Amino acid sequence: MGIKFMKKKLTINNIKKKKFNKPLVCLTAYTTPMAQILDKYCDVILVGDSLGMVLHGMKSTRDVTLEMMIMHGKAVRRGIENSLLVVDMPIGTYEKNPKMALRNARKIMKETLCDAVKVEGGIKVYETIKCLVNNNIPVMGHVGLLPQSVKKKSDYRVKGKDHLSFNQIIKDSISAEKAGAFSLVVECVIKDLADKINQSVNIPTIGIGASNKCDGQILVTEDLLGYSEKPPKFVKMYDNFKQRTEICIKKFVKDLKNNNFPNFKNMYQI
Ligand code: KIV
Repeated sequence: MGIKFMKKKLTINNIKKKKFNKPLVCLTAYTTPMAQILDKYCDVILVGDSLGMVLHGMKSTRDVTLEMMIMHGKAVRRGIENSLLVVDMPIGTYEKNPKMALRNARKIMKETLCDAVKVEGGIKVYETIKCLVNNNIPVMGHVGLLPQSVKKKSDYRVKGKDHLSFNQIIKDSISAEKAGAFSLVVECVIKDLADKINQSVNIPTIGIGASNKCDGQILVTEDLLGYSEKPPKFVKMYDNFKQRTEICIKKFVKDLKNNNFPNFKNMYQI
């Protein structure tokens, strides 16, 4: 017998009740079909700018544009009825000043009909988060490893190993909450730091490579499905769809070569 997943609808206003009331189920989606599947199980669906690497073959999230986020945000919106939809603000669209951030966040909200946007950083984006929230745009924060700041592969490192960065990331988390963020993604930090952040803020924390004590967990869906070449250590791969896809493609090619496709079932007769 299959496991039954009972899902209660979450809103920005009641998500805070999820603090210390695990688990907040979160995954990424970039397309309508994936969103339709996730919508049955997830509290939050994030259109992450990881789509630059996962879908578009980019080296990092740094080349992702506002237009790309809006296009995929619209596609995901078409597949969602119940989950909260959060769309990442890509690099270059919010960090310079709150006015610019507000203009771009409004565009994302209007075109994708998402429930919230996500921005990376803490103290540095305090004024930006505050401005968006004051203008009725709910914001999810993101601390720890900030993919938009990663310029080379070796920068993908676990954060919080030294005193300085440990304390800085706690300050960033508190700052995001003070600015009005309704939840906080905590990415790739040592477990002690994630646990400390979880105790230091009153908003739900969503871990990715963080700690089982976070209020929720998020992964890039393609990572857990086994589509990614070398997923980080924190990913649990539940299947290997990359391999499965290749097996199917090979079968298709074999059928063509052996003249087994299309056969009479795949062709129209009068
Ligand atoms: O871009 C993304 O997919 C993300 C998640 C991994 C948290 O930010």
